[in-house]
Amino acid sequence: MKARIVGTGSYLPKKIMTNQDLEKMVDTSHEWIVTRTGIEERRIAAEDECTSDMATIAAQRAMDMAGVAAEDIDLIVMGTITGDYPWPATACIVQANLGAKKAFAYDVSAACSGFLYALSSANDYIMSGRGKRALVIGAETLSRSVDWTDRNTCVLFGDGAGAVLLEAQESESGVLSCHLHSDGNYLELLYQPGFGAKHPASVEGIGARLSYLKMQGNEVFKVAVRSLTQVSKEALTANGYTSADVTQFIPHQANLRILEATTKRLGLTKEQSFINVHKYGNTSGATIPIAIDEAYHQGLLKEGDLILSAAFGGGFTWGSTLIRW
Ligand code: ACO
Repeated sequence: MKARIVGTGSYLPKKIMTNQDLEKMVDTSHEWIVTRTGIEERRIAAEDECTSDMATIAAQRAMDMAGVAAEDIDLIVMGTITGDYPWPATACIVQANLGAKKAFAYDVSAACSGFLYALSSANDYIMSGRGKRALVIGAETLSRSVDWTDRNTCVLFGDGAGAVLLEAQESESGVLSCHLHSDGNYLELLYQPGFGAKHPASVEGIGARLSYLKMQGNEVFKVAVRSLTQVSKEALTANGYTSADVTQFIPHQANLRILEATTKRLGLTKEQSFINVHKYGNTSGATIPIAIDEAYHQGLLKEGDLILSAAFGGGFTWGSTLIRW
């Protein structure tokens, strides 16, 4: 038995923010952003739109593709660091929106690796025989955690949601493995300092802009490339495959230079790598399920194909999965 992806869905907000728009907000240029990141534009949620709204639409689209009703979902796991509230879990709001009465729901906080961490949990749950169907979602409204006066970070991120529906099937196809890692020693290279228990909301904290994402980009870059390469090789080796066996590499879409450096180290060709970071920027936990949905609808994922996915993010956290489509 395997946990097989039987449905995919995604949602991107309508509003497009281009690099030219950013030129009017901070001291940057289209040329700098494209050269350093490959990002040309990103989507920004409408004022009345938040993470649960985008996640609900993506999840409903995955269920529609699979022809599965909300009452037949056993579990909803969502990777997000920009939930509607600090608590409870945004997955519970999605559960109510969908009317998935039987499902239990929780969020996973693993930043850009959130979707792969969520997928691993759902896969373990299905493989243990406790349930048959799980919705795995990655959704983020990063535009509300980004400091729009900080050119080092605000050019990188965007909003969006993606989802896959996993179903227990007697099949050779499905999730073959998940490998996850963390190293909390790197916390301050990429994090949001406030307003959790350490620095609760305060007037001073607002003045110090503690509720915004902070990052030391060049340090993150080096560890990201190293970790993505290592964890991708770990997935291939564990299953007895090499890079040549991979049909599509669908990595976390952080920026083009990280992706190109990683695919080069792995010996993967351009044709093997799926890239959409130029359109959406880094949507953290949402990049991989959005990319899977797009790749599927572009006819790039066919039965029997071998799909490798890897992510890296705040924590630090990183992970990979190998999927037989
Ligand atoms: N426009 C113009 N200039 C800028 C901008 C900007 N948007 N941002 C920074 N600069 C300037 C800096 O101020 C610096 O100027 P200085 O030399 O006068 O001090 C100069 O550009 C170089 O800055 P660096 O940070 O060294 O630039 P770098 O080449 O490292 O590129 C970048 C920065 C794109 C952030 C890169 O480090 C990177 O991609 N890091 C990975 C970060 C990432 O993707 N994080 C996402 C979360 S983790 C993940 O998803 C994997």
